[in-house]
Amino acid sequence: MTAYERTLASLRTHPKTWLVTGAAGFIGSSLIEALLAANQTVVGFDNLTTGKRENVKLLTALGGSRFTLWEGDIRNLDACREACRGVDAILHEAAQVSVPASMEDPVTTHDINTTGFMNVLLAAREQKVRRVVYASSCAVYGDSTRLPLSEDEPTNPLSPYAMSKLANEVYAGAFCRSYGMTAVGLRYFNVFGPRQDPKGVYAAVIPLWASAMIANSEIQIFGDGSTTRDFCYVGNVIQANLLAATAELAPGTHEVLNVAAGGRTSLNQLFELIRSALQADHPHLKSFKPVHRDFRAGDIRHSQADIAKAARILGYSPACTVEQGLHEALAWYRNVGKR
Ligand SMILES: NC(=O)c1ccc[n+]([C@@H]2O[C@H](COP(=O)([O-])OP(=O)(O)OC[C@H]3O[C@@H](n4cnc5c(N)ncnc54)[C@H](O)[C@@H]3O)[C@@H](O)[C@H]2O)c1
Repeated sequence: MTAYERTLASLRTHPKTWLVTGAAGFIGSSLIEALLAANQTVVGFDNLTTGKRENVKLLTALGGSRFTLWEGDIRNLDACREACRGVDAILHEAAQVSVPASMEDPVTTHDINTTGFMNVLLAAREQKVRRVVYASSCAVYGDSTRLPLSEDEPTNPLSPYAMSKLANEVYAGAFCRSYGMTAVGLRYFNVFGPRQDPKGVYAAVIPLWASAMIANSEIQIFGDGSTTRDFCYVGNVIQANLLAATAELAPGTHEVLNVAAGGRTSLNQLFELIRSALQADHPHLKSFKPVHRDFRAGDIRHSQADIAKAARILGYSPACTVEQGLHEALAWYRNVGKR
């Protein structure tokens, strides 16, 4: 039995009450779906800025009385306090998630991501929530060229978004040391999966390309396509969250861990994987080619995580490869295209 299988079995026999912020978003709704499937009770919290009502509908249908949505803003401390009542663990996903938006409006990003996170920490402390697991990001590493990136690598945030995630880590550490709380920050690398929004202005590359290929629209690759990323299927992120929420950690502990698949996929490989998977249903993709543009200033060429620390502390072991994850994600994009 893997650590994750043991965790799921123990949760099923001893169900808990969870608060998941960012509940209507891509990762938050995926976490809640997994929790509800494991017979847990979940309070979702979201202000529906980028989150989707259709995700809430799905979760309500899955969870019945075991799922409730608290429609509110993490910038409101009282709302956070109320939402935390009777909760065993928090999975904090709510954030202003766009790097370009953070460059345009750093103050709002700070309010939501840093002050909002502090509200979640304060509420968790007051309501004596036993564990806080929160979404950090590989963006905290900046343009470090030492690969694979381990958590010991110096941080170098290159945007207000990245800075807000680093601030979360520093605040969480201070709260754990000051008040004996226990928290785990998860530095997600490029996460993908069903329900990731293909329509947003700042859509991530996989949903953007999948929907562009289905629509026969142009796809641009900046550079020669040798740029690599550590794409991580959302199922692996769910595993990391549930392990982090249940791992035996002494009070006052704060850990920061990479969450990724631990591999590298080039943009050219990714293009080919998506194109060939969609080709059977979309014959126009047989001869479909991307348009290569110049590298953009500031683009990070290569990224890959060292996931040994998460393996050691949590027993994390990514169960889903990029290819398997794409199979799941693309099935979802195909069906969305048919609606
Ligand atoms: N998707 C990735 O590849 C990735 C990578 C690194 C880190 N992360 C982090 O993971 C978390 C989840 O990201 P996602 O990809 O699911 O994004 P998402 O946009 O789908 O989800 C974010 C959710 O937060 C909600 N939200 C925003 N501001 C809020 C506020 N003030 N109060 C309450 N709710 C608010 C949104 O409505 C949305 O439902 C974020 O913290 C993000 O920074 C994601």
